[in-house]
Amino acid sequence: MKKIAIIGLGYVGLPLAIEFGKKFKTIGYDIKKTRINELKEKLDITNEVSVNDFKQSKKLSFTSSIKDIKDCNIYIVAVPTPKNHLKKPNLKPLIDASKALGKIISNQDIVIFESTVYPGVTDDICAPIIEKISKLKYLNKESNQPGFYCGYSPERINPGDKKNHFTKIKKIVAGSNKKITKKISNLYNQIILSGTHEVSSIKAAEAVKVIENVQRDINIALMNELSIIFNKMNLNTEEILKAAETKWNFLNFRPGLVGGHCIGVDPYYLIHKSTAIGYKPNLIKAGRRVNDNMGYYIAEEVCKLFKKKKIKLNKSRILILGIAYKEDCRDIRNTLVVDIYKKLKKLYNLEVDIFDPIVNKKDVWNEYKIELVDNLKSNYYDGLILAVNHKIFRNMGLKKLIMYAKKKNIIYDIKYAFPAKSVDGRL
Ligand SMILES: NC(=O)c1ccc[n+]([C@@H]2O[C@H](COP(=O)([O-])OP(=O)(O)OC[C@H]3O[C@@H](n4cnc5c(N)ncnc54)[C@H](O)[C@@H]3O)[C@@H](O)[C@H]2O)c1
Repeated sequence: MKKIAIIGLGYVGLPLAIEFGKKFKTIGYDIKKTRINELKEKLDITNEVSVNDFKQSKKLSFTSSIKDIKDCNIYIVAVPTPKNHLKKPNLKPLIDASKALGKIISNQDIVIFESTVYPGVTDDICAPIIEKISKLKYLNKESNQPGFYCGYSPERINPGDKKNHFTKIKKIVAGSNKKITKKISNLYNQIILSGTHEVSSIKAAEAVKVIENVQRDINIALMNELSIIFNKMNLNTEEILKAAETKWNFLNFRPGLVGGHCIGVDPYYLIHKSTAIGYKPNLIKAGRRVNDNMGYYIAEEVCKLFKKKKIKLNKSRILILGIAYKEDCRDIRNTLVVDIYKKLKKLYNLEVDIFDPIVNKKDVWNEYKIELVDNLKSNYYDGLILAVNHKIFRNMGLKKLIMYAKKKNIIYDIKYAFPAKSVDGRL
């Protein structure tokens, strides 16, 4: 009988636990007690899962005690894989989870990792930790010996996107041997409507996920660079991109802020591994440099517009709309809006407010020491920056948003949300 444990119940782990809990006995485990208490009350602050989803997942329970998952036989790990202050992989959550699993797993159990990593983390780092602590052998070849198995199946969800639910996205799977790959594939096929795609090794599966995000990062970096060039030439980037897209093989990417904990982080994982094995990945690094700099670039562009319109910079008031790392998502991790805020405030001495009604104000304060504004005053700001195009802003439209600006103002649109001629600057 299958009994599944999901380790780490965030954006990835919780929806997964909900789906498995509709079919199999499933226990969601997280080290964060407050999260577990909320989940027990059917409350998901990430907004990925509704009360109805909780109700439908009849075989799911939650715990913050590792002992409660001891008699599971399938363990799926979805803990965070952030970068550290040196932009290097921070594998501590994965290492901690592996250590905890080492203490509780039994003969023939399977540990599947879903966290995004560089190729080699499962086989070379996590499995040896579990092996050492559990004293069980890692069975990465066909074998009848006692031991445990591993697998890797990257999550490819897009938080905030209610249309492309993870059950509709093909699932990449790999196991530590052929039999286990099939077993893992069969398991996911129970919940993934679009089926699975098996690859030959765990390292290959790890590589698939990381390059998906590397590819997006590089493409967005190229668009950002083009936008910088075209802005210097007073050309309309959006018009040019739309025209170029009339050719069938021109890719549909847009310039923008790359924040969050995936696209802006995962390339550093591959950079780290590549450098460690003796190859300097120049292109991937250059893409990261371009994208990491975009917040500062936008702040400078906004200041140039102030000068152009002869609005004095010092103590002028700016309202930034949105701080989440992407639209309709409450996640604020690594948001580059903070770079715009800091540069405008600290370097140019502007008074900067940020309004984002969908994120948690307390989280923003804890993470960035920024107090979000709640109530907007009409006719108050010298400039508006549309940074994140949440539904609420889309519904308001420029006509309503502009009420908060003084008559003489600058409007900067990062998201291409408004017609070019109705704003002073766009990315
Ligand atoms: N969010 C996304 O869009 C997305 C998409 C695809 C892949 N991923 C990858 O999936 C992984 C998880 O991301 P997320 O966004 O769900 O993270 P998250 O921060 O939303 O959630 C992770 C959860 O794991 C818990 N946790 C941390 N250490 C733990 C431990 N040792 N044992 C048990 N629980 C622990 C945390 O308390 C948290 O609740 C990451 O590797 C991420 O890169 C994320």
